[in-house]
Amino acid sequence: MTAAAPLESTELVDQAPALDRFRRDVLAALSRRPQRELPTQYLYDARGSELFDRICELPEYYPTRTELGIMERDAAAMAEAIGPGALVIEYGSGSSVKTRRLLERLREPAGCVLVDISREHLLRSAEELAAAFPHVEVLPVCADFTQPFEIPTPRAAVRRRAVYFPGSTIGNFLPDQATRLLGQMSEQAGPGGGLLIGIDLRKDPAVLEAAYNDAQGVTAEFDLNLLRRINRELGADFDLDAFEHRAIYDQELGRIEMHLVSRQAQVVTLAGRRFPLAEGETIRTEYSHKYSIDGFQRLAAAVGFRGRQVWTDPEPLFAVCYLDRA
Ligand code: AVJ
Repeated sequence: MTAAAPLESTELVDQAPALDRFRRDVLAALSRRPQRELPTQYLYDARGSELFDRICELPEYYPTRTELGIMERDAAAMAEAIGPGALVIEYGSGSSVKTRRLLERLREPAGCVLVDISREHLLRSAEELAAAFPHVEVLPVCADFTQPFEIPTPRAAVRRRAVYFPGSTIGNFLPDQATRLLGQMSEQAGPGGGLLIGIDLRKDPAVLEAAYNDAQGVTAEFDLNLLRRINRELGADFDLDAFEHRAIYDQELGRIEMHLVSRQAQVVTLAGRRFPLAEGETIRTEYSHKYSIDGFQRLAAAVGFRGRQVWTDPEPLFAVCYLDRA
């Protein structure tokens, strides 16, 4: 084997949503009746990404450490399933801790594309990953992955593409939206490509509600930070003390809903528009759908992904699924 020179790191491809898109998305969501909403992806500004990293360490928030445990045990089998020469495309890369376990095991990866909406966080993770894996080309793309975005071409030859979507972030999407997103991933993976995805499984509602209503209030801080961001970037006048965080599990629909509850009757002003809120009225900020393995595989089958292998923890709380495309 010839020794390859370490690659130069990490030119950012910036396809981040512009301020007018942010404003448009917020106005549309906040105007929705009867349930006002805010768009979930905008939770991740610099501070939001930091707070999310803290959530991942909370005693109540089991998904991160459970999925990391699965990666630590089974990454070699996952790498085997993906095969050599793969371009990894990581969605919602965040801190890319789990990605390391995969890259350690992959044979001759062609590169690692990191896609995230949170620019500073993305750049730091990309630099750290490039330093830890000097022979893997790391290609950061700042983008809202719910919209079409372009994937950069690495220098190395790509034998196959593997989308990696850890964290159970697919749960943020309603079934229709999830199908559309899986369809985009299926196109990006292409014939012979694959998808390695983390799925949070249905379980005791008390465990779920505790995970999204932590005792230290970090999740509340994460949720309220969205209002702070909208104030700062869009000039709104949300009074953060006039809202409280609440997460509830809808067992029928198998999903957590995060809401900001108005503590009083109030009027919020944004971009010259007035949004009256009644006492107790809520703004929904996030869904987090929980799946059965079969339920998820059915969704993915609709866009051409065939279930190949599943790894779980013993309980099981969480599953990592590998699917591929004919
Ligand atoms: C990043 C979408 C996987 O749904 O569990 C954590 C986000 N929100 N606590 C999740 C989140 C509140 C998280 N995902």
